[in-house]
Amino acid sequence: MAGKVLSLLPPLLLAAAGLAGLLLLCVPTRDVREPPALKYGIVLDAGSSHTSMFVYKWPADKENDTGIVGQHSSCDVPGGGISSYADNPPGAGQSLVECLEQALRDVPKDRHAGTPLYLGATAGMRLLNLTNPEASASVLAAVTRMLTQYPFDFRGAHILSGQDEGVFGWVTANYLLENFIKTHGFHPCWPKGFSTQVLLGDVYQSPCTAAQQPQAFNSSARVSLSGSSDPHLCRDLVSGLFSFSSCPFSRCSFNGVFQPPVAGNFIAFSAFFYTVNFLRTSMGLPVATLQQLEAASVNVCNQTWAQLQARVPGQRAHLADYCAGAMFVQQLLSRGYGFDERTFGGVTFQKKAADTAVGWALGYMLNLTNLIPADPPGLRKGTDFSSWVVLLLIFASALLASLVLLLRQVHSAKLPSTI
Ligand SMILES: *[C@@H]1O[C@H](CO)[C@@H](O)[C@H](O)[C@H]1NC(C)=O
Ligand SMILES: *[C@@H]1O[C@H](CO)[C@@H](O)[C@H](O)[C@H]1NC(C)=O
Ligand SMILES: *[C@@H]1O[C@H](CO)[C@@H](O)[C@H](O)[C@H]1NC(C)=O
Ligand SMILES: *[C@@H]1O[C@H](CO)[C@@H](O)[C@H](O)[C@H]1NC(C)=O
Repeated sequence: MAGKVLSLLPPLLLAAAGLAGLLLLCVPTRDVREPPALKYGIVLDAGSSHTSMFVYKWPADKENDTGIVGQHSSCDVPGGGISSYADNPPGAGQSLVECLEQALRDVPKDRHAGTPLYLGATAGMRLLNLTNPEASASVLAAVTRMLTQYPFDFRGAHILSGQDEGVFGWVTANYLLENFIKTHGFHPCWPKGFSTQVLLGDVYQSPCTAAQQPQAFNSSARVSLSGSSDPHLCRDLVSGLFSFSSCPFSRCSFNGVFQPPVAGNFIAFSAFFYTVNFLRTSMGLPVATLQQLEAASVNVCNQTWAQLQARVPGQRAHLADYCAGAMFVQQLLSRGYGFDERTFGGVTFQKKAADTAVGWALGYMLNLTNLIPADPPGLRKGTDFSSWVVLLLIFASALLASLVLLLRQVHSAKLPSTI
């Protein structure tokens, strides 16, 4: 009798296994998506008046898609630009500490070592490198020393050319919009009543005035410069910055640089945005057309210092410079690039796109991080459909076979013994 029960065991076990297999296969499953691992990148934008830090992030598994990288956080470095530390290079490195400490908190600890860190310097350092290459090199060395002390993957501190700045800004704007493959003297531009003192030595340091430097002069003499609020003289001065005299190509913008006719949509960011935003919001002037932009520039240049301060209380820092800025933007767009009323409609002045500041920094990082190998995608165990079907058939046949065996055993048990 015990033998009979024992002989039932294998088919019963087989049946149980087949049933369990079928049940397991039929348990509803969900496609579980692991939260994508994020990658980070940091760019320090060392401008002439100040330095900003941008922390970017993107999902590691999608790094070649467009429109994926976004701004995670940003930080304004207190004090002036790094070029203002020409006399005290270590101070340039020290000035970055507060923002770098923030970056340590903003980027998760386990990602620190894999986070590229770049510093790009623009106009201020270009100028310093022209006038005092040793000081420029010491400042770069000092910031490099500071940046290598952090656990990030520091990839160098470089001075960007004006062309790089333009190209990377263009890359950023197109990337964010996701259509990458698929932008006692008088100064007529300063307000009447505004005056400032400059060292004669500093005046001739500028590449713009170096040619006018006299043989002998007292470089420590102080010159007082006062504004004269003269829109027409200011416009003449600004327009003198553009040369239209020679063009080696079929068409030029200015200074002999080739430019095709303007067509399509344009983003005017950074200083363009700040200038036009000032005209719109602080001055309350409309700038929807080129003619309005011109009228607004004349208007802001015609204000005395007292009028300007009364109109824009609490904005002293660059207040005296908006006239020159507005004139420059207006002249650059109309005469320089050749926008007319119709094509000007395609220009939008904006600071951010997709919550990310438009400037060269993101484009710079995008280009350079192409070299970073991607994280291997998070692998998960799973079965695809065809192996699922095969398993289903195996378990089903096991179940069937066990049933047949079982029936035969039971049947033979019922028959009287023939021996
Ligand atoms: C992105 O592109 C680079 C080069 O084309 C390639 O080596 C890398 O594996 C790609 N990364 C992903 C996540 O597809
Ligand atoms: C400084 O200017 C010189 C001459 O133009 C150039 O060769 C050098 O690369 C510049 N330095 C940096 C750090 O860019
Ligand atoms: C400048 O403002 C004065 C009044 O303050 C006005 O009389 C003059 O016409 C303005 N000039 C221009 C060019 O707008
Ligand atoms: C972008 O990166 C590539 C290779 O990393 C380099 O050859 C190219 O010059 C870079 N583009 C610019 C504008 O620097």
